[in-house]
Amino acid sequence: MASPLPEQVINSQRQDWNRVAGGWEKWDRFFDEQMAFLNHRLVADARLRSGLRVLDLGSGTGYPALLAAQTVGANGSVVGIDLAEQMLEVAGRKAASVGLSHITFRAGDVTILPFETASFDAVTTRFCLMFLPEIQKAATEIVRVLKPDAWVAVAVWSAPEKNPYLKIPMDIIKQFIELPQPDPAAPGIFRLARPGELAGMLHQAGFIDVSEQEFLGDVRFAVAEDYYSSLMDIAAPIQNLWAKLSATQQTEAKQRIIHTAEQYRKGSVIALPIAVRMVAGRKSG
Ligand SMILES: C[S@@+](CC[C@H](N)C(=O)[O-])C[C@H]1O[C@@H](n2cnc3c(N)ncnc32)[C@H](O)[C@@H]1O
Repeated sequence: MASPLPEQVINSQRQDWNRVAGGWEKWDRFFDEQMAFLNHRLVADARLRSGLRVLDLGSGTGYPALLAAQTVGANGSVVGIDLAEQMLEVAGRKAASVGLSHITFRAGDVTILPFETASFDAVTTRFCLMFLPEIQKAATEIVRVLKPDAWVAVAVWSAPEKNPYLKIPMDIIKQFIELPQPDPAAPGIFRLARPGELAGMLHQAGFIDVSEQEFLGDVRFAVAEDYYSSLMDIAAPIQNLWAKLSATQQTEAKQRIIHTAEQYRKGSVIALPIAVRMVAGRKSG
């Protein structure tokens, strides 16, 4: 089957993430608490400090853009860009609710950044770049909009085997239906999981001092039912696979997901491992 054109991927991404915006708002508090450590890591890797002007790519409902805004303070500013307007509406409501007026969100494709050359002091991005049809093009755009010596900090998912949090439902869906062997170059959750791949793209775009680390953690749930419901509410790519199952298959698959998640119980919590590839680089001075 021919690969979809970049604009087709972009349109599907926009639709997918707009569809789950309500789910992200519903579970916002929970995921904010569970994944805050990743935002802090990005803020550190991007060397954010008071007064900087920051660009966050694929901000969704505001991660890590909101923490970036708190870090740079009112003397600085943050712009968050995302395809999905409905995700950004949630982000905008959250910014207003905590009184952050130096952050703005705008709809757009991060592959073609609508900003002047050398106009930002840092770029951050969490769980977005692997969904792009043209990642190398985006890397070149990032280096263009950064000022000399400025840092980019990126978080993407590492290998599926190290991410039971995401892999459990995918494996169980595959017990019911045959899915085509994924094209390793096709946009998707694990597109940038291979060590060195994103770092190589940043090098090729002109970044120096490129670093990469697999950052391990977990997402913790009191009950397995919440794991199932939250993931189905927010993970657009998994929802797309889930929709291929019949109602009867979904009922059985849900039971299997809950049963498998229970095997990760440690005392009062179910701790599902995650592995995130953190990649950072500096534009030469
Ligand atoms: C998994 S969400 C991550 C959102 C947020 N950064 C976070 O970590 O919570 C992926 C986001 O990337 C956005 N996205 C995907 N492709 C994009 C593109 N080409 N340009 C801008 N945003 C994109 C989606 O709309 C979605 O909001």
